[in-house]
Amino acid sequence: MNKSLLITGGAGFIGSNFVHYWLNKYPEDTITVLDALTYAGNLANLESAQSNPNFNFVKGNICDQELVENLLIEKTINTIVHFAAESHVDRSITGPDAFIKTNIIGTYTLLKAAKKIWIDNPKSEGKSPFEHRFHHVSTDEVYGTLNADDPAFTENTAYAPNSPYSASKASSDHLVRAYHHTYGLNVTTSNCSNNYGPFHFPEKLIPLVIINILNNKALPIYGDGKQIRDWLYVEDHAYGIDLVLKKGKAGETYNIGGNNEWANIDIVKTICGMVDQAFKENKELAIQFPKALSAISDNSESLISYVKDRPGHDRRYAIDATKSQKEIGYKPVESFDSGIKKTINWYLNNTQWWLSILDGSYQDWVKQQYKY
Ligand code: NAD
Ligand code: TYD
Repeated sequence: MNKSLLITGGAGFIGSNFVHYWLNKYPEDTITVLDALTYAGNLANLESAQSNPNFNFVKGNICDQELVENLLIEKTINTIVHFAAESHVDRSITGPDAFIKTNIIGTYTLLKAAKKIWIDNPKSEGKSPFEHRFHHVSTDEVYGTLNADDPAFTENTAYAPNSPYSASKASSDHLVRAYHHTYGLNVTTSNCSNNYGPFHFPEKLIPLVIINILNNKALPIYGDGKQIRDWLYVEDHAYGIDLVLKKGKAGETYNIGGNNEWANIDIVKTICGMVDQAFKENKELAIQFPKALSAISDNSESLISYVKDRPGHDRRYAIDATKSQKEIGYKPVESFDSGIKKTINWYLNNTQWWLSILDGSYQDWVKQQYKY
């Protein structure tokens, strides 16, 4: 059966990469993106999908239950892949309200709409309940923090979220689980590690560092820079979700990781070295980015600046993806070396994308288009 997917948050970083992955791999399926176009949503991320007749974009909020119900009916949606969220830990510390609204109330609203249309009032002939899947995209941050010698997070690790962001995601995970247990909604959840790749909003560590190097700006390292993250190339994440949708069991959760732990300071130094090397190999870059230190010396590392630590900063995240490997055949394809090279090249070749975010011209354009 062809799928008709509702992708929430499909104009964001991971959602848009997932849309491209899916349209390319399953051209016969239909995709509807529902996205509120917050500061993190960007229609430019979906530009190449716009001309595809199987692709629709709807600007709207996941907290709008009537809108979601209408979309489920009108587009005969049988699969929801739920990415929409407030996703930046630093913003959750200074302004948690939006995280509670979107991540908790928004997920709850989607669950209510899905239950109503798919289970309580199925429109499909002869089938009750409607054959469906609600896939919830979550994070390893719900498991809290690890010490250097602790084993990596498994699906059985107790939840211990430390930031308003991770607490809001943990809450949404519990609601998703409850809708399966109590109402029989066909749900799956994936908890993944830190993603990186194209279309990554430049407030997050990797894109921020690449862009700041090109603009000759400081590279802020929180605290001692020895916090560890397990980096996952975004296309491997899309592949992992694809496997969960195909082979995952209702009510189950699956960890998706990159098997790729790095201390922040090491990753930043690696990126500095790679950008300097790219400038050595391609003299055009010095003309394109005249401000970059790499254009005059190969010393981008001198931009590193240690700053005040993030409050409650989690020390280490690491994913044990054994269950996903054994039960659904998941294994990341990209090595960190190949993934980070692709990512740096993408930022070197897509300057207009990040310039329009930095100078605000993208958001001005959205305001004009949607009159808000
Ligand atoms: P993002 O911030 O880049 O994108 C979020 C998208 O959701 C944006 O397009 C935004 O406009 C949209 N959105 C926000 N609030 C909305 C609302 N109320 N209604 C409709 N749309 C709304 O986030 P991302 O990095 O792509 O993350 C996607 C999902 O993956 C999130 O659920 C996040 O918690 C999870 N995740 C992300 C990472 C990571 O490394 N980025 C790691 C683990 C899990
Ligand atoms: P981030 O990309 O915000 O992801 P998360 O907080 O979800 O892991 O941050 C990754 C790591 O990098 C995290 O330990 C915080 C750190 N960090 C810095 O040291 N400097 C920065 O400017 C940013 C944005 C993050």
